[in-house]
Amino acid sequence: MMIDIDSVSLSYGTQRERKEVLNNISFAIKPHSICAIIGPSGCGKSSLLFLLAGLRQPDSGKIVVKGNPRRGTILQNYGLFPWKTVAQNIGLGLTLQHMNKRQIAEKVTALIAEMGLTGFDKHFPSQLSGGMQQRVALARSLAIDPEILLMDEPLSSLDALTRERLQNLFLQVQKNKQITAVIVTHSIEEAVFLGNTIVVLSERPAKIVQIVDNPQAGDLSYRGQEHFYSRCNMLRNLLREDKNG
Ligand SMILES: Nc1ncnc2c1ncn2[C@@H]1O[C@H](COP(=O)(O)OP(=O)(O)OP(=O)(O)O)[C@@H](O)[C@H]1O
Ligand SMILES: [Mg+2]
Repeated sequence: MMIDIDSVSLSYGTQRERKEVLNNISFAIKPHSICAIIGPSGCGKSSLLFLLAGLRQPDSGKIVVKGNPRRGTILQNYGLFPWKTVAQNIGLGLTLQHMNKRQIAEKVTALIAEMGLTGFDKHFPSQLSGGMQQRVALARSLAIDPEILLMDEPLSSLDALTRERLQNLFLQVQKNKQITAVIVTHSIEEAVFLGNTIVVLSERPAKIVQIVDNPQAGDLSYRGQEHFYSRCNMLRNLLREDKNG
């Protein structure tokens, strides 16, 4: 599923007091690839994801997504319904698709096991840690077999090992199901490990600093390699140079 972002600009506020957030952003996301987006806090990453999700319209420019693909979205605050249990939250999209109850239960049980949440199906989000809530959000977005997956800091609250495990799991699902994914992350390592393409944004208003091609992304042995670390350093320098103007 090709996604084309063409000269997109966005600002918030009123005519008198405008806050420019995205400044002329253009890039393309190849079908079945992972695009990682990094940039300083407050630069406009979540805003860009809102545009990709169709939850907001740009002031100018356009976003083209061919067809009408199923989109799974994970918002920065997870977006779980507090009054629904873990199982109900995960099954929500399937319920809305009118899948039958037994099939939903099977799918939900499998996802709960994959996410390491067995035994928590009847818990409510408020009874879970932040990392567990993130896993519920990931399971919920995977449940609908999305063609496009939009993720805003989906693994930020996880400990390092769980994070790596879920990165691996995500990669496996993404490859098997040929998902086109966009992941916003504050972790340079995560961007380098997962992103076939890494979009580096500047301070607000976000402009494109660089679009980095990262062909080794998704290779499970990439993490420990020297090339992996030099990639991370290269990105760190790009962000630092932008900050120091
Ligand atoms: N609905 C809104 N109305 C007005 N201003 C907003 C709104 N949403 C975001 N902003 C502002 O737009 C800017 C970009 O916000 P955004 O959430 O996109 O940044 P971000 O890159 O995701 O930051 P972080 O890395 O901290 O999550 C911020 O200055 C924020 O205050
Ligand atoms: Mg954000």
